[in-house]
Amino acid sequence: MARVLTGIQSTGRPHMGNILGAILPAIEMANKSENESFLFIADLHSLTQIKNPAELKENTFQVAATWLAFGLDPNKTTFYRQSDVPECVELSWYLNCFFPYQRLKLAHSFKDKANRLEDINSGLFMYPMLMAADILLYDADEIPVGRDQLQHLEMSRDVASRMNHKLGDIFVLPSPIIQPETQLIPGTDGEKMSKSRNNTIDVFANEKEIKKHINKNIVTDNTPLESPKDPNSSTIFNLYRLIASEIESNKMAEQLRAGGYGWGHAKNDLINCICEKFAEPREKFNHFINNRNEVEDILNHGAKKAKKVAEATLIRVKKSLGYNT
Ligand code: TRP
Repeated sequence: MARVLTGIQSTGRPHMGNILGAILPAIEMANKSENESFLFIADLHSLTQIKNPAELKENTFQVAATWLAFGLDPNKTTFYRQSDVPECVELSWYLNCFFPYQRLKLAHSFKDKANRLEDINSGLFMYPMLMAADILLYDADEIPVGRDQLQHLEMSRDVASRMNHKLGDIFVLPSPIIQPETQLIPGTDGEKMSKSRNNTIDVFANEKEIKKHINKNIVTDNTPLESPKDPNSSTIFNLYRLIASEIESNKMAEQLRAGGYGWGHAKNDLINCICEKFAEPREKFNHFINNRNEVEDILNHGAKKAKKVAEATLIRVKKSLGYNT
């Protein structure tokens, strides 16, 4: 049985684009997988960008509550907070000492962030070695990641091979499983939905807020109600077909093409569909908001399971390095 592990960033409450594009497919994979799976919230990596303690804590909570609300099974997947298993930080130090500075300097993600961000701290520079530690600590075999993380995975393999070569086989070499480009989810302006474009839809908002938000933010042209309309160039339809059934989508497309069905009607159908489709996860999410300790308990339980594996690996590594264990 392979051990599959991945980390998720905690950059705040996930929006509909994150949920449809990444979270739902990942949960489906984790729940049906025959493998042993580990999934953690990379809140130590977040510290490179977030220095506000309340925000850091809240982001982690919102991400955890979202995954759980959409059905991640914490009995099947070891689901934990990275910072609850600080053994990864200790391991990252050992890795740092075996990895050439010149190679870290070549990391694309560091160069990219150094160009974009104001706070260019050393944590940002060490990021790939903390990520390697996240992986090597758990003897993970397969790492599902986006294409942008490929170089980080190469560095993880590289540092593991260097240490295996010097110290004997102490690490499992992890393989990346490159996730297909996620489906493009249009935001309210028709462009890719993203926080930075300010075009997101919050599926956890209440029905009234969702209604108001969509009515106000999805802009339509002024084709009269009676005239035929092209479904494919409509953001309303392009969002609708991602969540409605095939029968429902075909119906909306036909009605638009036929005329006599206005943008207001289409918006209403979209709003109802979102409210219905996300009713159950919204209810669960709100339940967690009011019962935060339940999420805490689940994460603590996951951390306990993860820690067992982490401690054993760390002892093995420390011994091989010549440290007291
Ligand atoms: N860097 C990853 C990202 O930005 C998140 C991450 C941290 C991760 N540690 C990891 C992913 C370990 C896979 C394995 O998406």
